Amino acid sequence: MTRIAYVNGRYVPHHEAAVHIEDRGYQFADGVYEVIAVRRGRLVDENGHLDRLKHSLSELRIAWPLSRRALKIILREVVRRNRLNGDGMVYLQVTRGVAPRSHAFPDHRESALVVTARRLRLLQGNEADAGVDVITIPDIRWKRCDIKSISLLPNILGKQQAEDSGASEAWMVDSGGQVTEGTLSNAWIVTEMGELVTRDASRAILNGITRQAVLRLATEAEIAFSERPFTVNEAKAAREAFITGTTVLVTPVVRIDGEPVGDGRTGEFTAKLLAFYARHMDNQGKGT
Ligand SMILES: Cc1ncc(COP(=O)(O)O)c(C=O)c1O
Repeated sequence: MTRIAYVNGRYVPHHEAAVHIEDRGYQFADGVYEVIAVRRGRLVDENGHLDRLKHSLSELRIAWPLSRRALKIILREVVRRNRLNGDGMVYLQVTRGVAPRSHAFPDHRESALVVTARRLRLLQGNEADAGVDVITIPDIRWKRCDIKSISLLPNILGKQQAEDSGASEAWMVDSGGQVTEGTLSNAWIVTEMGELVTRDASRAILNGITRQAVLRLATEAEIAFSERPFTVNEAKAAREAFITGTTVLVTPVVRIDGEPVGDGRTGEFTAKLLAFYARHMDNQGKGT
């Protein structure tokens, strides 16, 4: 089946989809993105993603490419045209558009929009059961990690370093020794004392849509949590650790820098939160 991409007003075969060489995303990484999971053909937490897109765009003063309503129609149309009635993801990218290369903003406000989709296995596979290894690395990113910028070099280097050392994810650590987040996920622990902890949303991290959903699900289940930074040592002494993200959902972390977390197996809280999150994904679009 031919995959279809949306590029600046047109639906085109994926292998033919292209942007201009002077797209500012291509030249300057002057753009933002969102990845939205698709569960059984339905977009997961679409509004949360569009709210965060709004934040990213307004912080960078990039114009909306079209109205939120029109964007929602396009997202659904891309899902439909790709016959994504199972599980997968939609990727959307907005850049500051095409203009002769010059650092300052162009005079026009015509941003560029690309939307693609692909199939992906969610909620299956060994990682959710067996858990993953993380390594810790210095956080060398800029000071606006709340913006979902397409400029991802530190994240790319960190993820590669993790894979080169046989791990799945790298937890980035700030100059004060506190974990900020993963290269594509938020970081969580359940401390020795049984406290569920994830870093507070600030400019130091991306406020994950999965993170926000898990916090809501924990509140509903009357599981107490604390939004605060934690150190690498605290994480290594924790009973449980896990990561959250659109494509990793809630994935147990069983080793940090090669040292087992707790008994080195998926923890009780982690399993419970994954089950809640799986149900949350399955409930998308129902009753609304
Ligand atoms: C740096 C970073 N942190 C956290 C996340 C998790 O965010 P979300 O749950 O919205 O996917 C991502 C997702 O791509 C990310 O890139």
